[in-house]
Amino acid sequence: MSNDNASANNNQNPAAKLWGGRFSEATDAFVERFTASVMFDQRMALEDIQGSLAHAQMLSEVGVLTADEFTQIEGGLKDIAEEIKAGEFPWSVELEDVHMNIESRLTQRIGATGKKLHTGRSRNDQVATDIRLWLRNRIDLIAAELTRLQTGLVDLAEQEADTIMPGFTHLQSAQPVTFGHHLLAWNEMLTRDYERLMDCRKRVNRSPLGAAALAGTSYPINRARTAELLGFDAPTENSLDSVSDRDFAIEFCAFGALLLTHLSRASEELVLWTSSQFNFIDLPDRFCTGSSIMPQKKNPDVPELVRGKTGRMNGHLIALLTLMKSQPLAYNKDNQEDKEPLFDAADTALDCLRAFADMAPALKPKKENMLAAAAKGFSTATDLADYLVRKGVAFRDAHEIVGQSVAFAIEKDCDLADLSLAELQKFSDAIGDDVFEVLTLEGSVAARDHIGGTAPNQVRAACGRARKLIASR
Ligand code: ARG
Repeated sequence: MSNDNASANNNQNPAAKLWGGRFSEATDAFVERFTASVMFDQRMALEDIQGSLAHAQMLSEVGVLTADEFTQIEGGLKDIAEEIKAGEFPWSVELEDVHMNIESRLTQRIGATGKKLHTGRSRNDQVATDIRLWLRNRIDLIAAELTRLQTGLVDLAEQEADTIMPGFTHLQSAQPVTFGHHLLAWNEMLTRDYERLMDCRKRVNRSPLGAAALAGTSYPINRARTAELLGFDAPTENSLDSVSDRDFAIEFCAFGALLLTHLSRASEELVLWTSSQFNFIDLPDRFCTGSSIMPQKKNPDVPELVRGKTGRMNGHLIALLTLMKSQPLAYNKDNQEDKEPLFDAADTALDCLRAFADMAPALKPKKENMLAAAAKGFSTATDLADYLVRKGVAFRDAHEIVGQSVAFAIEKDCDLADLSLAELQKFSDAIGDDVFEVLTLEGSVAARDHIGGTAPNQVRAACGRARKLIASR
């Protein structure tokens, strides 16, 4: 291929590089490998072709290319796209990156006209365009997967609107809540992640094409046209900024870090809940693996792995922030290092969401265990205090009375609801026989009957609002 390329290049430079004109010796073999990016940036090949097609079409519309030249270039690029999809493209490290591999292949296939494609652009605006197109595609896939996960969570939350479980603070039983309410808490986190993703998308979706190397180009290009052809909202404003900043990729990783932070929290809860100590849910076997030595084991590998992937995502965010820090304008080769973290960040977000979206509808709560756990740990103590306040006792005094009742129950090794009326009345004569209604778990959750509260009818209403929000996307 390189021989063909040299002849198509019609160039006597020793390196046979597209940029080799001013060079008098070939690139050092190690340096060639060290500076190449084609091993990883070939993932953007189809976006590179998409960008080139728009650029060539615009050049023909403004008269820089003839209609016939455009037709040849278009045909050649489309054939190359097929070649790439079929896995038959001869990628070459000598040609450094995805851009020069494709451009050189075009010239090899269609002849001298191929050499006109790079008129009025640079790899600097080309790569910035490719990354944005690639990331936009990934963002759309990730958004769809987020929506699938949220739909599953809201459906399950509605089914489990009446299922009582302990709510925790400090991982100690605090007050009873419903499982549906807990699932909707996860859903809220994901709603904000979705909003962050869409916000990031707006800034990704601007066209740097036409910024050329750094200063723009002397050809009469139409940047609005290429932006339109590529589905970008508008061209970017400043050529120096366009070829250099990767803040949009950093933002995406920041989205990813928060998403994974949220998924890691849910993962941690799944890991706890599937343990025999909690025994709150059943995770179907297909999401678990066994142990090679302990036959009894069923490990929650999928949530554990998602939890672990958070580290990698945070690493990518820090890598890109550090990559960008202190870079002088405009393009620097440092930016070639943006791709692997960004690609992996997008892959990780998509994979973790997929795992969760598959898993969420399959979670089977063990309702009796949840209920039994909620009944332990004096989780209705606050309800007793609120009851006393309704009977005219000041909250601080009520707190003290309930504290004493709890201490008494601990001594008797029973729950508050197991104490007799006479025993309870020893602590306050404001207590009547209606007290047992508020000491039940059902009464406790039903009483939290306001927007954002855990009452089953509030959970059902919240599910309705969540569904509406998802449908409006
Ligand atoms: N492979 C390069 C990158 O990823 C493409 C841009 C190269 N531009 C340059 N002037 N060397 O950033």
